[in-house]
Parts: sequence; structure tokens; C-alpha cells
Amino acid sequence: MKKPSPEQIKAFEGKDVLTARQFSLEELNAIMGTAAHYEQALAEKRIIKDMEGKVMASLFYEPSTRTRLSFETAMLRLGGSVITVAESATNQISSTAKGETLHDGITVIDGYADVIVIRSPQTGAADIAAQAAKHPIINAGDGAGQHPTQALLDIYTILKAKGSAEGLKVALVGDLKFGRTVHSLVDFLALYGCDLILASPDQLKMPEDIVASLRDRGVKVEETNSLQDAVKVADVLYVTRVQRERFPDPSEYEKVKDLFIVDEELIRGCKEGMIILHPLPRVNEITVGVDKYPGALYFEQAYNGLYVRMALLALTTGSVG
Ligand code: CP
Repeated sequence: MKKPSPEQIKAFEGKDVLTARQFSLEELNAIMGTAAHYEQALAEKRIIKDMEGKVMASLFYEPSTRTRLSFETAMLRLGGSVITVAESATNQISSTAKGETLHDGITVIDGYADVIVIRSPQTGAADIAAQAAKHPIINAGDGAGQHPTQALLDIYTILKAKGSAEGLKVALVGDLKFGRTVHSLVDFLALYGCDLILASPDQLKMPEDIVASLRDRGVKVEETNSLQDAVKVADVLYVTRVQRERFPDPSEYEKVKDLFIVDEELIRGCKEGMIILHPLPRVNEITVGVDKYPGALYFEQAYNGLYVRMALLALTTGSVG
């Protein structure tokens, strides 16, 4: 993963990050190279001032630990400043409690900040924000829609662990219906020519339009409701939490919440060198005993979010030094 050329870096300036589908393989590799550049700079304890004098607005209208704190840390590590709104209890943007629209709210915040990071329970909220803002909008998760920055850090983790993602067999397991991270990640895996195994209870299958779109692009996709079958062949096991908050009927959640559990016995039959990823938070879909397996990289994955988000902030604001 090498730092991209000045021309490649320049191409990101002013761009929004809304969906995984917007990126080409070249752009993906440019983000990876920029993330590696910042990881190296932090490892060398360099003081970075690439975003000195710039302000990031951090708007989280849904709970977040990793995404919010890694974005805010990223901005601070880049020498910039953060203004923040976190109103997860109301799921409303700032003055929408008084009747203000998302569009109006973002138009105002756009006057204060150089880049806006937004998480919302509403699918498509980041697109509305992008229409309102002149500065870059970064989608930090919109309902059951997309979570492109999570998928970028997932890819970064795979590249660090495996050297390359080309041709890997990646098993995505758990809640593929509501899990927005996998909705984004499949598009990046498609760019690298990965084979996909989609393993879920029948009620939580990947939406048909996403599967059809992958197949149209020539991606080999296998769907199964057997976690065991997926684990046997995977190079990467990507586990997801059943998204309780997206179930209209809580009793439906109760029926599926414990159907897929990755435990020590299950991974005994895995391929040598298989890595296990999870966007976190986990509930009980990976038992704590699995944490000591050398390929269990989910905490390292969360740390990688810092470097990837530094890259995204600096690239979109034209600040990479
Ligand atoms: N993976 C992820 O999006 O975590 P948070 O909800 O804590 O941001």
C-alpha cells in the first residue's frame, strides 16, 4: 500500500463519501495507500498538521462508539478541530426538534465546517446532506443503507493481514438484511475479484437487488443458511450482529438473534490462516473464547478505522501533506 501520486490525491478534493459503489479500484487503492501513510506517521510519532485550521462537524443521530470517536480522533491527529452534535436519544438533527429540515440544518452547519461526518437512522440521509452542503459529506452510516467508511477499514484490515484481497473467499455471516456494513463491503470485495459466501438465517438474507447486482458484475456468490459450511471454506469470516434496532417487530428479533454463533468449536474446522472480522459492537455472535484465536482481528480492525478516517478527511478536503 503506497502513498498515491499528487494527481490521485487531488482527484478526491471536494468529493463526498456516500456509498461504496462510487469508488473505482484505483481510488480504493489510493485511500488504502493514504491510510498506510498516516499509520506510518503515527507509528513514528510525527506531529501531523495537515488539517490545522480546519473544522470537522461530527453529526451522530444514532449511537456510535467506534465511528464517531475514530473520526474525531482522526481529525485531532491531523491537527484539526471538531464540532459535534450527538442526539441519539431523539434521532433528530439539531433544530429538527423545532421543525427544521435536515437540508436546512446541514446548510447551516456547512457554514461552520470544512467537512461534515453524518450518521443517521434514515437511509439516504447522507445524500440529502450532500445536496445541501458545499463541503464534503462523509456517510458514517445511514439506516440499513450504507456504511462505506467501515467497509474501507475492513478492506484495509484484510490487506494488512493477507497482503492482497485478490481472489479470496470471503464469508459474510449473520444479519445480511439490515447490516449496512456488508451492503458496502460487498462492492469493494467485488472490485478485488473475491468469491462471496453469504451465510444467514433465511429471514436475514442479503437483499435480492444487491445479490443480483453482484452477479451482474460477474461476482461468484453462494447463498447458504449453514454457518458451518461457510466457515469450512472461508479465507475471511466476516461476522455481523443481528441489528435489533432495525426490526419492526421485537418478537422477530428474538427468533433469530442466537441462530448464528461463532465459537471455538466451530472455528476448529476452519482453513489455516482464516481471519475473523466483525465491525463491532458484538453481542454474543462471537464468543469471548474466540478472541485468543490468532486470526481474530476485530479489535485491530477497529483501530485501523483511525488511519482510514484520517485518509478520508485529508483526501476529501485536499489536505494530504
Ligand atoms: N462499527 C461501527 O459502526 O461501530 P459504531 O456503531 O460504534 O460506530
